[in-house]
Amino acid sequence: MEFLDLPPLVSACGTVRLPGSKSISNRVLLLSALAEGETEVRDLLASDDTHVMLEALKQLGVGIRHEADGVVRVLGVGGTFPVKTGDICLGNAGTAVRSLTAALALAGGHYKVSGVARMHERPIGDLVNGLREIGADVIYLGNAGFPPLEIRPASIRAGGVVQVRGDVSSQFLTGLLMALPMTGVETTVEVVGELISKPYIEITLAIMARFGVAVTRNGWQSFVVPAGSRYVSPGVVYVEGDASSASYFLALGAIGGGPLRVEGVGRGSIQGDVRFAEALAQMGAVIEMGDNWIEAKAPQGGLKGIDLDCNHIPDAAMTLATTALFANGPTTLRNIASWRVKETDRIAAMARELRKLGALVEEGADFIRVTPVAKLASPAEGIDTYDDHRVAMCFSLAAFGTPLRINDPKCVGKTFPDYFERLATVTLPVPVIAIDGPSASGKGTVAARVAETLGWHYLDSGALYRLTALAARRAGVAWDNEPAVAAIAAKLDVVFSGSSILLAGEEVGEAIRSEEMSSGASKVAALPAVREALLFRQRVFRQAPGLVADGRDMGSVVFPDAGTKVFLTASVEIRADRRYKQLIAKGIEATISPILQDLRERDERDSTRSVAPLQQNADAELLDTSALTIVDAVAQVLGWARKAPQKR
Ligand code: DC
Repeated sequence: MEFLDLPPLVSACGTVRLPGSKSISNRVLLLSALAEGETEVRDLLASDDTHVMLEALKQLGVGIRHEADGVVRVLGVGGTFPVKTGDICLGNAGTAVRSLTAALALAGGHYKVSGVARMHERPIGDLVNGLREIGADVIYLGNAGFPPLEIRPASIRAGGVVQVRGDVSSQFLTGLLMALPMTGVETTVEVVGELISKPYIEITLAIMARFGVAVTRNGWQSFVVPAGSRYVSPGVVYVEGDASSASYFLALGAIGGGPLRVEGVGRGSIQGDVRFAEALAQMGAVIEMGDNWIEAKAPQGGLKGIDLDCNHIPDAAMTLATTALFANGPTTLRNIASWRVKETDRIAAMARELRKLGALVEEGADFIRVTPVAKLASPAEGIDTYDDHRVAMCFSLAAFGTPLRINDPKCVGKTFPDYFERLATVTLPVPVIAIDGPSASGKGTVAARVAETLGWHYLDSGALYRLTALAARRAGVAWDNEPAVAAIAAKLDVVFSGSSILLAGEEVGEAIRSEEMSSGASKVAALPAVREALLFRQRVFRQAPGLVADGRDMGSVVFPDAGTKVFLTASVEIRADRRYKQLIAKGIEATISPILQDLRERDERDSTRSVAPLQQNADAELLDTSALTIVDAVAQVLGWARKAPQKR
């Protein structure tokens, strides 16, 4: 499975221009398609969900032109779709499935509407019931109440009153309201049950009004689409930034210091999710807002837990669940039953993944309660994302507490394809000094002293390969048995503390330094599966305030974003001499020529292997210690580190 390892974060600030709102983009596309006249859509979200909608509209005969600067020009059909048959596949885009199903049901054609497997588990029965009430001919091709659907031509009897349930998804009401103007007759839609996610209906009504259809509403109970309604292009439409996407950055500012500003939504927004800022303010965050921007800062004394009814911000509320990891006390999010029928069962998914981080989580049919822990765990298996963009984005916040592996990170493409790249532009990771070099170059001594001087953590990555070799030997596994050695590496039961190293509870600090284990380490280190198994384990050493890591591939593979990279070496003769003197000092008998021979062989193996070979990278400083004392070498590394720009 693909994964992304996020470095642990120390702070967040800056400005992010948000991608366009998914909810607005897909509604604008559909209404532009149905309208009379051409619509120039600006700032449209470019993502999987809008791609799906655009492709479907093209398939239905709507003219769509992609122009410079991301402008999309939609040539409205002025009524109904010209193409009368088709299999329309809409991926996992809930907004597209619900709104297009309603429009197609009134379009007088013969269509099939389907999606990915998860889409076929997301309910649509309430919408279909509403459509059948006005004469639409919609058939379930799989399970009753769920896509895929077949839609056949039918005589529509709009007018009068149509009922639709509003307590499972507000998208049913949205779909019906947006389609009804295709009939031209006055129709009243009555909502049965308590309407959830009301702000999304406000978005629907605002966009319909923009396209010339003024729906009147009586509270949240009934809505009247007037007679003679028809969509007319307003010419140019600017899509607001996505308020749900804003939530991740606002939370980052609230956790990581800030100020972090999002541009594209603000006081004037039609999206209900801007009220996420209020929830964050309740947690103590300092929020400022302009017409088209919102800014968040961390409060003095930290965030506090809250107890909140989140029915009005169902999507953004997910962000509160991971923000809760950084609050004092528990946070309870209530009235979120709709989470269970989204891209995944979001209550179950959030609970499971939050628990992996060590948080205490209670969940119920329509609530989740998160009690934070002082120190987050770093699950080696990673955070699973369930093909749900919001799960992936929410959990990125946890990087404030620990290095974090996010599985299947590309699922963010549904609404925010470059989310992780943007995240990197407004956050500072825990700094790393990476020191690579050949065996016995003295890098271990230098690295440990640099770490001690700075008060940072220290990773002797070679020790992990040595431990793997030792553990394999003890388990009777040959060093060239790649899968078996990798399995041992993945499960190494090791505790580092100061100079002591415990393997399965036994002190092995000395045992792994033997010449035999040096040779074994070099052999197991050449196995790609072993390197893979040790990758995240090494990254977990990156903890505040900083890490000094030594090895062969610290700067190239394990910490490619390290702010300081050093290639520390010395001639092979000098290294052999140093190793010889070390052994003699320990009272171990030694002669120089086999040491020299062995070092040459290990150099050769380490630098010619196919994965992560030892080499000086272009961005690493060369430090040849042949003629340097340890004190000089340490001073040089510290000098480079002081000058290193803080990486953004
Ligand atoms: O640095 P050392 O001598 O303790 O390393 C032991 C072996 O492990 C060495 O032969 C190279 C290998 N190694 C590696 O391949 N990658 C690292 N990051 C560290 C060590």
